[in-house]
Amino acid sequence: MPCPCHESAKHNPMSDKPLLEVKNLKTHFFTEEGVARTVDEVSFTIAAGEVFGLVGESGCGKTVTAHSIMGIIRPPGQQVGGEIIFKGIALDRLDERQFAALRGEELAMIFQDPQVRLNPVFKIGAQIAELFEIQRGMKRSEAWPLAVELLERVGLPDPEERAHSYAHELSGGQAQRVMIALAIALEPELLIADEPTTALDATIQAQILELLERLAERRQSAMLLITHDLAVVAQRADRVAVMYAGHFLEQAGVQTLFDRPMHPYTQGLLNAMPDVRASGALVSIPGTVPEAHHWPAGCRFAPRCPARKKYKLEICEIVQPDLIEIAPDHLVRCWLYQAHPGHQPPLSTEEHTWVW
Ligand SMILES: Nc1ncnc2c1ncn2[C@@H]1O[C@H](COP(=O)(O)OP(=O)(O)OP(=O)(O)O)[C@@H](O)[C@H]1O
Ligand code: SF4
Ligand SMILES: [Mg+2]
Repeated sequence: MPCPCHESAKHNPMSDKPLLEVKNLKTHFFTEEGVARTVDEVSFTIAAGEVFGLVGESGCGKTVTAHSIMGIIRPPGQQVGGEIIFKGIALDRLDERQFAALRGEELAMIFQDPQVRLNPVFKIGAQIAELFEIQRGMKRSEAWPLAVELLERVGLPDPEERAHSYAHELSGGQAQRVMIALAIALEPELLIADEPTTALDATIQAQILELLERLAERRQSAMLLITHDLAVVAQRADRVAVMYAGHFLEQAGVQTLFDRPMHPYTQGLLNAMPDVRASGALVSIPGTVPEAHHWPAGCRFAPRCPARKKYKLEICEIVQPDLIEIAPDHLVRCWLYQAHPGHQPPLSTEEHTWVW
């Protein structure tokens, strides 16, 4: 006899689909210096309840990827290709009004630049309360205590008093916490957190990350966690993508990425981890990220790659490698592991070799 709970668990076709699908996203900036291909063929998925970490050095396109998902790219930037599908809806085909209806309740973002994003004219308590008033039909008298409670949950001291402050009266860390309160107020299904804890000290940082985790557990919500801090990714993410010069160089489950990093760039980032902790910046890979107007023709990491010289790989500067699956759910873009006419890969995907 079939189990009654099995019978009652109706099959939901949406549950088989990822919450977010980004397919071949291209977002370019049309400037006087030329076209900056800032996000160039980026694809990934995020399942309900999953934390997807996005890491990479400054200027590699992480924030532009996030802004593309949120539909807030403005000229000179433009999404010129690809699809962004959230809960089966093609976001890039929504008009501004339809998109606005999704923001807050279903999709929200903690912005990297909170001081600029907060409304300078309204008290911060009013900005949070307004969300409950508009989306939940509450009166100000009901919404205000909820706003104060949220400010308390994000660790703002004297929340009742602080709720009456304006954005310019806050420190960077306080503004960041207000930004977090705004983003989580309506418990969105997908939270995009762009460097959510950079301006915060270690204690508050841990508190915020726990708060976000609890939200994820309660709501089965998902998070795109963008950060320079690999230690945060190691602790909080389920899967991770490593971005460089507009596209992904490696993507894997968090355990795999930290135990068996295959791409020279990922290995370089992991080598730099002690410096990350000390200075907050990724500094140990010699050289700099190329300009988005002038991505190198072949592998974009070639000018900085020690493996290219070590293994005398001529193809690297000429042909761009594809992002290929070298093991289940482990993608790598590197000629060390893939063949091409006239090129034999020097390393096997079975072994794990540090190239630095
Ligand atoms: N308004 C703009 N005009 C021209 N180019 C822009 C503009 N905004 C962004 N870009 C492009 O985006 C790049 C920065 O990308 P993005 O902000 O996504 O980097 P990031 O990976 O988030 O870096 P960080 O770690 O410093 O936050 C710039 O180098 C430039 O190519
Ligand atoms: S493709 Fe070549 S240059 Fe690029 S990361 Fe791999 S070995 Fe280095
Ligand atoms: Mg950024």
